[in-house]
Amino acid sequence: MSYVEDPGPGHGSVPPRAAFRSDAPSLSLNGTWRFRLSPGLAAAPDPIDVDDTGWDELPVPSLWQLHGHGKPAYTNVHYPFPVDPPHVPSENPTGDHRRRFDLPASWPAGSALLRFDGIDSCGRIWLNGTELGVTKGSRLPSEFEVGPLLKPRDNLLVVRVHQWSAGSYLEDQDMWWLSGIFRDVTLLARPAGGIGDYWLHADYDHTTGLGTLRVDADPDVVLDIPALGVTGLPAGETRELPVEPWSAETPRLYEGTLSTVAERVPVRIGFRTVSIEDGQLKVNGRRLLLRGVNRHEHDPHTGRVVSRETALADVLLMKRHHINAVRTSHYPPDPAFLELCDEYGLWVIDECDLETHGFGPLGWERNPSSEPMWAEAYLDRMRRTVERDKNRPSVILWSLGNESHTGENLARMAEWARERDPSRPVHYEGDYDCSYVDVHSRMYASPEEVERIGKLEDDNERRRDLPFVLCEYAHAMGNGPGGLLEYRELFERYPNCQGGFVWEWIDHGLAAPGHFAYGGDFGEPLHDGNFVVDGLVFPDRTPSPGLVEFAKIIEPVRIEAGASGLRVSNHYDFVSTEHLTFTWVLEDEGVAVAEGVLDVPTLHSGQSGSVPLPALPPTGGESWLTISASLASATSWAPAGHVVGWGQLPVSPAATRSPAPSRGPVFRTADRLLLGAGEFDPATGTLTTLGGHAVRGPRLDVWRATTDNDRGSSPGESDASQWLAAGLHRMQHRVIEVNADGDELLVRTRVAPAAQPFGLFADYTWTAFDDGLRLRVEVTPDGYAGTLPRLGLTMAVPAAFGSVEWFGAGPGEAYPDSRQAVRVGRFSSSVDGLQTPYVFPQENGNRTAVRWARLTAPDGAGLQLDGDPAFDFTARRWDAAALEAARHTDDLVSGDLVHVTLDVAQHGLGSAACGPGVLPRYRLFARKTSFTLRFRPLAGGVAN
Ligand code: GAL
Repeated sequence: MSYVEDPGPGHGSVPPRAAFRSDAPSLSLNGTWRFRLSPGLAAAPDPIDVDDTGWDELPVPSLWQLHGHGKPAYTNVHYPFPVDPPHVPSENPTGDHRRRFDLPASWPAGSALLRFDGIDSCGRIWLNGTELGVTKGSRLPSEFEVGPLLKPRDNLLVVRVHQWSAGSYLEDQDMWWLSGIFRDVTLLARPAGGIGDYWLHADYDHTTGLGTLRVDADPDVVLDIPALGVTGLPAGETRELPVEPWSAETPRLYEGTLSTVAERVPVRIGFRTVSIEDGQLKVNGRRLLLRGVNRHEHDPHTGRVVSRETALADVLLMKRHHINAVRTSHYPPDPAFLELCDEYGLWVIDECDLETHGFGPLGWERNPSSEPMWAEAYLDRMRRTVERDKNRPSVILWSLGNESHTGENLARMAEWARERDPSRPVHYEGDYDCSYVDVHSRMYASPEEVERIGKLEDDNERRRDLPFVLCEYAHAMGNGPGGLLEYRELFERYPNCQGGFVWEWIDHGLAAPGHFAYGGDFGEPLHDGNFVVDGLVFPDRTPSPGLVEFAKIIEPVRIEAGASGLRVSNHYDFVSTEHLTFTWVLEDEGVAVAEGVLDVPTLHSGQSGSVPLPALPPTGGESWLTISASLASATSWAPAGHVVGWGQLPVSPAATRSPAPSRGPVFRTADRLLLGAGEFDPATGTLTTLGGHAVRGPRLDVWRATTDNDRGSSPGESDASQWLAAGLHRMQHRVIEVNADGDELLVRTRVAPAAQPFGLFADYTWTAFDDGLRLRVEVTPDGYAGTLPRLGLTMAVPAAFGSVEWFGAGPGEAYPDSRQAVRVGRFSSSVDGLQTPYVFPQENGNRTAVRWARLTAPDGAGLQLDGDPAFDFTARRWDAAALEAARHTDDLVSGDLVHVTLDVAQHGLGSAACGPGVLPRYRLFARKTSFTLRFRPLAGGVAN
């Protein structure tokens, strides 16, 4: 059997060891290599004895499909090749990479290791014509001894990389299929008597405040930590000493040096102890609440080639959004990411490079997890994960992999990991009985199920005694997730429910001209479309509204109205509020009128306290007090002033407006229908101009461009399929009556879909007042009792009305089950700026609880909308049908109108794209409803 199809691990490499840098010479072999792609192994000519001057150039690290060789392909679960383990297609794109290099003059003779941090999926390696071996396990390092082969000049390194290998069966991780040498290549001199490997054990006893330190390494290795007065601590010796512990909130690292006479290794040590006690996962004696995300490595230009700068951007974004944990789905990340997690403070579940999901649709028949021929490959992957990352204090759990069902090979990985590293519990979601894991983990469990687990109602005794985490929940695909608040409440109510990891951190969209590409955009015959874009940040790492909402849900300091003023709660797991400043601002109709600093007594982790309200000046309109907790001084991850928690309290309501006297009556001539500032179509009773501005509508509309969550993962049962079956996207309007008597214009209509007997009656009652029009809408279902996407009006106004100002909730979009992040204030935006550019276009941009909004042209001409008391709105340069039809952001083209929706209600978002749908309380059912809006024309001529 060829090495490509051998189900075993690679061969020829040295035993796995910790990732570290030292003062021994090293040479990066990243850079420009020569590259030749062949369609398959059989077709690939000799890569060694060949003149490569005619070959292409390719950067290393890179993934060749992103450099014009072949194309990316995306599948979620299905293998893109026949399931015939361990065989792979003969059409197996094979990339030969060649690089010549000289050694620096000072390069020492003796041992040297050639290190590959990641090759996808299988690499065969030669140096100066001698074969070194084969590596598999794409996201894992391999090192080969090359000392005797090195020459001072003109070394030739050849790496033959196969897109498919037996290893591909273990790497079905719901991401782009991409190939190449995608992480660093480094030559490391290994001095005789140097440090081959080490394991720094740094525990912390929270009852005594003492750290326990021990280095496992060769006997002549010693450790120095100047800040702790540790000098020359020999390997194998244990030292107890008072230390500051490491936690994600206080990532205290001690700089030290490991040395032998031949080599020095700088180390950073974090003291912490992970334990499971009383069915809870604890670090340093404290229960953790994991406010986590699943992180794939992704860059829209380079795919899984992620630079240190990009990894740092992720860490900073996470920290600034109060995220405290990462599951490295579904493989160990580039080692730089974990160093950053140590430095900035994030709890990590380090997951092995393993997923065999494609066997799922086949009933898990021949699943590698239970087939002996794969046993060694499984163990090899676990060993390489643990050995590489064992010195990272941020890593608190090992994860065996993802969605590989269950089986003996997984059980053996767990057993090995536990024996090798008793200091970290083992995680794996697929061990449903929890027979070989230490943590009960589930994905996408509904709040109901989580509650049952919280109440210890699980009938499996083993599971019941374990800490519970959601390794994935709140699928962040498109507009959503909705319903995060309900999970937080459960995590806070039940001590064994220790939080979870939102699926997922980043949209894996690939940069294409004008838009981001997803599955199918490269002509793949089998693909899963936009299921690859389901992150909290867009492909370019712009935070999505989902991230802003998540940040608000998990904010570590909560400020609410209390019985006597304010209630402030500290939701940090470790630190007090001492590092925070509390400030307040009073806004009258969204305009700041007073502000100050609030004296909040120090609250320790888990404590709440009451704080009296500051003395506030009187206000005239609707006013709100906003209190913020922010960093008193800069941290490594955010500047001083960065807000970590805020709350809002209503101070005084809007002055009640006595209804303005009617300014009727309605004038009707043969071909005109006039009321106050408005002119209506006499036949249909729809408003056509207001104060001279051409408008269209408003009229009843219940449709929204379906979201990924509306469409759901079980298409037949989704909300969208019910709405489409009912025909809610193609409603027709029948005018029953246009009654223009006296002061009121009454337009009675029935709005109903073709082919259906049911519909909605909509009665519009218009009256004139002052300079505007008041509209009362009464909606009465006629035989339809299902859910509606939304309920309200649509209208169109001139394209020139491109600026929006509103007083209401903002600044971002909000929906009934995703509205914690918005506050009441006065906001402004362009119409274009109101759009959220979901990679796959869908409903977005809804502003909620809006008291009033103005849409204006540069000269001030426009329209003012007043709620009674409030409404939701969107404003777009295209209508819902165009939004529904669009497949990429650049399909959306501005027309000559601004389309506005004015709603009394929206259906929630839920997270049915993968997980529970909209919770009952957020579902919008058709029922008798009425609402009122006022429309006022604004005259132009204002200099702007
Ligand atoms: C999970 C899986 C993830 C991802 C997610 C859906 O089942 O573990 O890798 O596929 O579903 O986006």
